[in-house]
Amino acid sequence: MSNSFDIVLYGATSFVGQITAKYLAQHTSEPFSWAIAGRNRAKLDTLKAELGLADLPILVADSHDEDALRSIAEQTNVIITTVGPYALYGETLVKICAETGTDYCDLTGEPQWIKQMLDQYEAQAKESGARIIHCAGFDSIPSDLGVWALQEHAIAATGQPVSHIKMRVTKIRGAASGGTVASMLNVMADVRKDKSLRKVLVNPYVLCPDEHGFHVRQTNHQKAQFEPDTKMWVMPFVMAAINERIVHRTNALLGARYGSAFRYDEAMRAKSAGQAWGMTLGLGAFMLGAATGLGRTLMAKTFLPKPGEGPSEQAQLKGMFDMRFYGTTEDGSQLEFKVKGDRDPGYGSTAKMLAQVGLCLAKDVSELEGGCWTPASGLGQKLIDRLAAHAGVSVSQVKP
Ligand SMILES: NC(=O)c1ccc[n+]([C@@H]2O[C@H](COP(=O)([O-])OP(=O)(O)OC[C@H]3O[C@@H](n4cnc5c(N)ncnc54)[C@H](OP(=O)(O)O)[C@@H]3O)[C@@H](O)[C@H]2O)c1
Repeated sequence: MSNSFDIVLYGATSFVGQITAKYLAQHTSEPFSWAIAGRNRAKLDTLKAELGLADLPILVADSHDEDALRSIAEQTNVIITTVGPYALYGETLVKICAETGTDYCDLTGEPQWIKQMLDQYEAQAKESGARIIHCAGFDSIPSDLGVWALQEHAIAATGQPVSHIKMRVTKIRGAASGGTVASMLNVMADVRKDKSLRKVLVNPYVLCPDEHGFHVRQTNHQKAQFEPDTKMWVMPFVMAAINERIVHRTNALLGARYGSAFRYDEAMRAKSAGQAWGMTLGLGAFMLGAATGLGRTLMAKTFLPKPGEGPSEQAQLKGMFDMRFYGTTEDGSQLEFKVKGDRDPGYGSTAKMLAQVGLCLAKDVSELEGGCWTPASGLGQKLIDRLAAHAGVSVSQVKP
């Protein structure tokens, strides 16, 4: 490891990048070397002044400039990137990391783009030793680690994984940023341009390696409904589309550790039928509006946050999330696990989780082979420990 830096934070001036930079600047409980990077030198200088770190190096590269990105990759062990929408700006960096053997993590939640990256660069990452981890934020770390922890507990206790886990978001306080909205709208635009992507997006196993062999039909929550077993009204959870795919990829990468007929579904708990239907209709209206170019333009110009905008610092502090995972073991015991975060999910908590994935790659997993891992399959308990110690995110069993 002769590189100058443990970590380069690329896209440090994005909304979530700035929060991540502030978090890294204050994370003094372990030594590490780092630099900030982005396309705009003046914005990076301003950020550096705000951080108050006179010696913090700055690196400049446009996301399409292969030579500049290679020069960054050659100076660091890990690149953390927040430059998104990733389907528009992310590919060159993945390519360079796969070529140079540089570890990489990002905040994409765009399944169609991850699929392209796997198809094009996974083989090279395996060869070069680059460990690539997508979805290293609110999507999809809590889902991936919550399922993994419950299954590890079930396997240790009974020798068998549970065959079905439901994740229900029981509490969540937070809002979206312009970058997240831009990514969601860009997925809709991509599907509009290329109808074959619909097939990609509805396949729960789309991110699994070709030889996964999973066939079981998965539940897809598209409307409000009352669940007799949990006695809850539930409604669709907007992140389910990416989280469920990451969980199935983890299962595949771990050699079907959760079983080859494993079922997993995510939804949000509602306080009442009225709330469940109101949210379902609201989400439906958003999707309908986002399905046309005109609708996307109108929404982006009127009420949606613009790139660079997002929830205030106070809203991040007041934010939180609480996600519950329910499964029944082979011997009939009910298991419940919870994943909780102490900041708003998309920014305050996401920034801390992303930074800790970068540090975990840099410091904890030298034995991990190159390839495209998920947070749970690549980092597992080491990441859970880091998040509990440094990121205000806990993964634990709810005792009956
Ligand atoms: N997974 C999660 O839980 C989660 C949570 C939050 C965000 N996200 C994702 O994270 C990404 C960032 O979100 P955000 O709200 O922080 O976005 P944002 O504020 O709009 O920032 C976008 C960033 O991309 C940079 N950029 C754009 N074009 C570039 C280019 N050609 N070369 C280099 N850099 C370029 C911008 O640089 P400048 O600063 O110079 O303009 C900016 O730093 C989005 O994709 C979003 O979906 C995911």
